[in-house]
Amino acid sequence: MRSNSTAPAPPPGPAPLPLAGHVVVVTGATSGIGERTALGLARTGAQVVLVGRDAGRIERTRARIAGEFPDARLESAVADLARLAEVRRVAGELGLRHPSIFALVNNAGAVYAHREVTTEGHEATWALNVLAPYLLTHLLAGPLRRGAPARVVNVASAAHRGRRLDFEDLEGHRRYSGFRTYGRSKLALLLLTYEFARRWSGRGITVNALHPGYVRTGFGKNTPGAMSGVIRFLDRLFAIPAEEGARTPIYLASSPEVADANGLYFARCRPVPSSRASYDAASAARLWQVCAEQTGVGR
Ligand SMILES: NC(=O)c1ccc[n+]([C@@H]2O[C@H](COP(=O)([O-])OP(=O)(O)OC[C@H]3O[C@@H](n4cnc5c(N)ncnc54)[C@H](OP(=O)(O)O)[C@@H]3O)[C@@H](O)[C@H]2O)c1
Repeated sequence: MRSNSTAPAPPPGPAPLPLAGHVVVVTGATSGIGERTALGLARTGAQVVLVGRDAGRIERTRARIAGEFPDARLESAVADLARLAEVRRVAGELGLRHPSIFALVNNAGAVYAHREVTTEGHEATWALNVLAPYLLTHLLAGPLRRGAPARVVNVASAAHRGRRLDFEDLEGHRRYSGFRTYGRSKLALLLLTYEFARRWSGRGITVNALHPGYVRTGFGKNTPGAMSGVIRFLDRLFAIPAEEGARTPIYLASSPEVADANGLYFARCRPVPSSRASYDAASAARLWQVCAEQTGVGR
């Protein structure tokens, strides 16, 4: 016989975490903004792939994150992203492990006081801050498309302001200054962000960039001498903690509020205009062409 009495509803369980079941990839996850971004994204329930260039540092990062959030679902991937061959190898590995990816955070980046050349012959800032995110984003296009709606988040910098690209000398053969080269590399990353957003529009993958703020991290460790002294001095005066610097990348990689944002530059979790030079569509198209020739993808 049927009873009319309604059984009391079971007590509500914990709400499912917003990114549970999703994979996010964070480059430069072994320090500073990348590590805090990885922790923040792990807290949303995502399976977070920590990409770093040193297996030991990745393991220590895993332990730190797990110490703060024991439920974190973490994996490692080792690659020196300043080398295109390594970017290709790790992208292949990630694609095999994860047929679908929800977010790629291109965070790894550096400034070099003196001009350094990679074993593949590229100036190191150009290789790491520009070619690596360009190539990795292209090579993960398949998993991102299968993870759609998916997101690419590029960690740029306010240091792009006041810079212009010199297409005759993109890799600083003629003249080199660490800060100028760094600022130009972030301008290039912004131009590429907007170009990806235009070209990939309608594919279910958004591409945005951000300035994390002036953040106290390991940044500048490749810069011995006066430059590192300047960075340390400015750090003491103005820098915010890495947790704060990670807020905007976490927001862009996970918040439903920005699900449709595409081709925008954010600071403090809000869209802001980037420099005039960064919106020059002709430069973006030319830069894309250079990157396509140097990496062999995107032609
Ligand atoms: N700090 C700021 O004020 C600030 C401001 C604007 C933008 N940013 C940007 O924020 C991003 C993160 O920087 P951060 O401040 O957090 O500096 P960080 O503490 O030095 O972190 C940089 C990360 O990039 C990794 N990395 C460096 N070279 C690499 C390579 N060849 N291959 C793979 N990974 C490499 C580092 O790995 P290791 O641990 O192995 O060195 C580290 O995990 C960078 O793109 C930077 O340009 C920073």
